[in-house]
Amino acid sequence: MNQSTMKGGSAIHAPAFVRQQKLINWVAEIAALTQPANIVWCDGSQEEYDSLCAAMVATGTLKKLNPSKRPNSFLACSDPSDVARVEDRTFICSASKEDAGPTNNWMEPGEMRATLSNLFAGCMQGRTLYVVPFSMGPLGSPIAHIGVELSDSPYVVANMRIMTRMGRAVYDVLGTDGEFVPCVHSVGAPLAAGQQGAAWPCNKTKYIVHFPQSREIWSYGSGYGGNALLGKKCFALRIASTMGRDQDWLAEHMLILGVESPEGKKHYVAAAFPSACGKTNFAMLIPPASFEGWKVTTVGDDIAWIKPQVDEKTGDVRLYAINPEAGYFGVAPGTNEKTNYNCMASMRENTIFTNVALTDDGDVWWEGLSKEAPAHLIDWQGRDWTPAIALETGAKAAHPNARFTVAAIQNPVIDPAWDDPAGVPISAFIFGGRRSTTVPLVTEARNWLEGVYMAATMGSETTAAAAGQMGVVRRDPFAMLPFTGYNMSDYFQHWLNIGKMITAASPLQLPKIYCVNWFRTDADGKFVWPGFGDNMRVLKWILERIEDTEGATGGIDHLFGISPRFTDLKWDGLDFTQAQFDIITAIDKNAWREELKLHTELFEKLQYHLPQELEANRQALENALSS
Ligand code: GTP
Ligand code: SPV
Ligand code: MN
Repeated sequence: MNQSTMKGGSAIHAPAFVRQQKLINWVAEIAALTQPANIVWCDGSQEEYDSLCAAMVATGTLKKLNPSKRPNSFLACSDPSDVARVEDRTFICSASKEDAGPTNNWMEPGEMRATLSNLFAGCMQGRTLYVVPFSMGPLGSPIAHIGVELSDSPYVVANMRIMTRMGRAVYDVLGTDGEFVPCVHSVGAPLAAGQQGAAWPCNKTKYIVHFPQSREIWSYGSGYGGNALLGKKCFALRIASTMGRDQDWLAEHMLILGVESPEGKKHYVAAAFPSACGKTNFAMLIPPASFEGWKVTTVGDDIAWIKPQVDEKTGDVRLYAINPEAGYFGVAPGTNEKTNYNCMASMRENTIFTNVALTDDGDVWWEGLSKEAPAHLIDWQGRDWTPAIALETGAKAAHPNARFTVAAIQNPVIDPAWDDPAGVPISAFIFGGRRSTTVPLVTEARNWLEGVYMAATMGSETTAAAAGQMGVVRRDPFAMLPFTGYNMSDYFQHWLNIGKMITAASPLQLPKIYCVNWFRTDADGKFVWPGFGDNMRVLKWILERIEDTEGATGGIDHLFGISPRFTDLKWDGLDFTQAQFDIITAIDKNAWREELKLHTELFEKLQYHLPQELEANRQALENALSS
């Protein structure tokens, strides 16, 4: 590590491998504002990671797990007030309120800067400021973008090393005048001289702030996930979505997977599901045993950057996607060897767990990991936990938004092209919410507009991935409600424009759009669809539809698209009846009339700049429903 001690505002000394004066000046400026005890310029080496983790074990931020059970792995337990993204404290500070739109919190940029200056003044006292250079996307690739995060949290540094391409090589790419997105992060917990400090420092006051015009990110008060790992939601979605709007590309909350048939035909699809709705699971899906010869591989599990590009062989314009991340920050609860074997295999070693429970033999546990819970655990809040206590108090061993951080290369089914700077060509987009009623298992949009409408009006029951009430249906357009860095209606228009652009150049290359729902429940509230590996049955139908341009592959036209009949899906190896299928595919006209009211409500809210075609599509649906 390259450490320098701050001496009362003296000029800072960057190591020789940092060659950009603008970057050094910015670090000096932030250090002068935040007044850290010292500055560390991270090089991303294994030694640096190991010594950071060792230091965090010493301060109690991390527990080292039993190396014979979980080699080179750690457990972090956060403050109970800092367990998820804080959407109501997230701000898009564009010049005009209209540009942030009605779905984002907005504050006038000058006013926000004044607020931040006060908050950040002296906020790193007694702490170390880490300079964390990172690349979103393969290093040096023309589609990658660089960020530098200044953070006073060693936990953030360790996680950023797993989640991004972080370290010294980034400085080489930056050179003397390369561009970077400046990201400032503080947990907001300065230390007085000699003060020990909390194991998980944070502040009751939280601000997650984006300035899209100047492409800057400022985050205060939280050390958790998307609030603090600024390459992820803040950069790769909120800032990148505004870059995409200006430069004709898309930054999306999507997994990317490759799927190969027994005949060796391979397609890539990108799927947007809201937070904690199954992206990681779908991206690593293991087909049922009866699907011999089918293979699913992972390009990414959370974020996709998608650009129109010319296919060098055919001259066609197609959409190509890259995963800007290098690791997974995945939901632990519900994950087990049966539901997601590949995910479990990914986290056998070299993993940071956050807010899961600790077993008596120094391993980890969470709800859903095994049918039977261990007889005794230390829960995520450090308390004794037994099945009896859980029964009595309802206490969860792991927080419902507990997460694991692992490098993508630990995934046994990583796609060979996952790191390819050219990206992978996308054949279909899938959108899916968590809906216990109304929305059928799978629907194909008959055209791009119908698909954009489906995505724009998607609803989903809220999950523990964000602070707030759980399980209420809210509109989550494109699974991007908390992540679109500009006006949502302009974002819809951008999607329509991209469709028109591909259609004009290479109409046959326009991806098809699907809407799925794995989460319909029966009268007892139980999921009817088995989900997980069995989602392959739906994926296979989608692939057949893509391959079969004549449209001969089974499906029936209905109110808002095309869905398979029972006989159109492959059922081998699963005991699933026509009656069960009917429960999850029924289109109840009354329920859809109610649903349409919610679409109307959304469009009223988004009236400013709402594309007229979307409103016309809504009107047509309404007419069809009332006839
Ligand atoms: P973020 O990382 O928050 O963006 O979420 P994600 O979309 O990657 O969610 P993830 O795949 O981690 O899934 C979260 C939860 O959904 C877990 O508790 C899973 O058990 C559950 N889940 C995933 N796939 C399925 C499915 O097909 N059916 C059902 N019923 N549950 C699922
Ligand atoms: C999500 O909430 O969609 C996540 C987790 O992927 S976080 O990085 O915390 O935003
Ligand atoms: Mn996510």
